[in-house]
Amino acid sequence: MEIIKTRSELSKYLETKRINHSAIGFVPTMGALHQGHISLISQSAAQNDLTVVSIFVNPRQFNDKSDFDKYPRNIEADIKLLEVSGCNVLFLPEYNDLFNKDTSVVVDLGGLDALWEGAFRPGHFQGVVEVVDALFDAVQPHKAYFGRKDFQQLLIIKKLAEQRYPTIEIIECEIIREPDGLAMSSRNSRLDVEGRKAAGSINRILSECQVMAVQHATVKQVADFAMNSLQLVPGLKTEYIAVCDKNTLFSAPAEKSACGYMLLVAVWCAGVRLIDNFYLKG
Ligand code: PAJ
Repeated sequence: MEIIKTRSELSKYLETKRINHSAIGFVPTMGALHQGHISLISQSAAQNDLTVVSIFVNPRQFNDKSDFDKYPRNIEADIKLLEVSGCNVLFLPEYNDLFNKDTSVVVDLGGLDALWEGAFRPGHFQGVVEVVDALFDAVQPHKAYFGRKDFQQLLIIKKLAEQRYPTIEIIECEIIREPDGLAMSSRNSRLDVEGRKAAGSINRILSECQVMAVQHATVKQVADFAMNSLQLVPGLKTEYIAVCDKNTLFSAPAEKSACGYMLLVAVWCAGVRLIDNFYLKG
């Protein structure tokens, strides 16, 4: 595995591969890697000749400075994992090199950035768009891999790609979960024992919402049930619950059947903010 730290070195290296028409897959991350990230890398390795993974904890997407400071960083363990994961190039850019150009990225996000995560984390998605734009520009992959775990981010990246990088195919990847259903996340390592136990309830409650949906519950019934059930778990504090359209993320009408809508949640647990989602199948 090559470890490359500058944009210019990366483009030189990738040019030699492009000459041979190698298909390039790209997995952007913020490190503290877990099996959720590895599943994206495995898919890229299976579908491309060469896989580039980036690790960059992007300060622009943290609306809360202490969240940025506390974000887990473990580059040595990450490199060990990457060496056996199918990654060919690890890109570790520095801030000034990555953002060395005009980075005012204008993308019509159709209002997506104002909702849910965007409403609770002002400026977050602008920061995500800027960094992914800079990374796409640096790597120029054929395919780029993103997890459904960050569902709103995935929709926003699709808009960015459609409008600024139409040749990059965005591949959506399933959420990888712990045995108790908790969606894997770098932030989970910050949970204490009690918090980790409580966090397991989030997915259990979302799964119960799925059962209600197939039994013809309405949007309001599902949302109320999720809110009340999460409230009953000691140590969890719900920030939002959304039952919404899977493309626009606009709230679903309260009296409609919940099937076919997306359920999104953000929950505080032992000082850690966790997000999860569930598509309510019919
Ligand atoms: P990060 O949180 O490190 O996640 C990198 C990628 O891994 C994202 O596409 C995310 O959705 C995916 N991912 C995380 N946990 C997952 C899980 N349990 N199952 C499946 N996929 C999972 O998302 C970011 O970094 C950043 O915002 C980034 C896009 C790199 C821009 O800075």
